[in-house]
Amino acid sequence: MIQKILLKSSDETAALATAFAPLLSVGNTILLNGSVGAGKTHFARALISTCLNDINALEDIPSPTFTLVQTYELNHVDIWHADLYRLTSLSEVYELGLDTAFEDAICLLEWSNRLGEMLPKNALTLNLNITEEDLREATLEWEDTIWDTIVVDALKVFNNEKS
Ligand SMILES: Nc1ncnc2c1ncn2[C@@H]1O[C@H](COP(=O)(O)OP(=O)(O)OP(=O)(O)O)[C@@H](O)[C@H]1O
Ligand SMILES: [Mg+2]
Repeated sequence: MIQKILLKSSDETAALATAFAPLLSVGNTILLNGSVGAGKTHFARALISTCLNDINALEDIPSPTFTLVQTYELNHVDIWHADLYRLTSLSEVYELGLDTAFEDAICLLEWSNRLGEMLPKNALTLNLNITEEDLREATLEWEDTIWDTIVVDALKVFNNEKS
């Protein structure tokens, strides 16, 4: 399935992330694609801060550019935020524990194309395409039907927020 939406500002991208936040659960992975500066980290930060805020546990959300992975504990599940731009080999994926995180956690992955065949097949892909300075053409794509209702519900909340 595929859904396209326009994100007219960084606030709108954050609002989309916030709409997804309460709908995610164990085993959900979002692949954040798009060129440098497209808003992948911005989306991940907004999603994580919404989840942490909900349990009164807001903390710094640094970009995982150098650490590759940052993890956050929610009440019943952890969120893994990964930036695989600097991944040097696939064995590092196992060292980091990302393979088990795909099963046990909520994962938000930047530069996930580095994973090749290890990419989880049941993931949702969010591609952010820079069309103008503040404008992003967002494409949501998925095969696993678990995302059907999650995407519909998130877009409903997102569209209500805007109007
Ligand atoms: N509509 C928009 N959506 C998201 N970010 C936007 C938008 N308009 C402007 N921006 C700005 O673009 C920048 C996106 O930076 P961000 O670090 O999230 O990019 P990135 O995709 O993670 O890049 P990298 O590949 O380097 O990790 C931010 O400064 C953000 O404020
Ligand atoms: Mg980034």
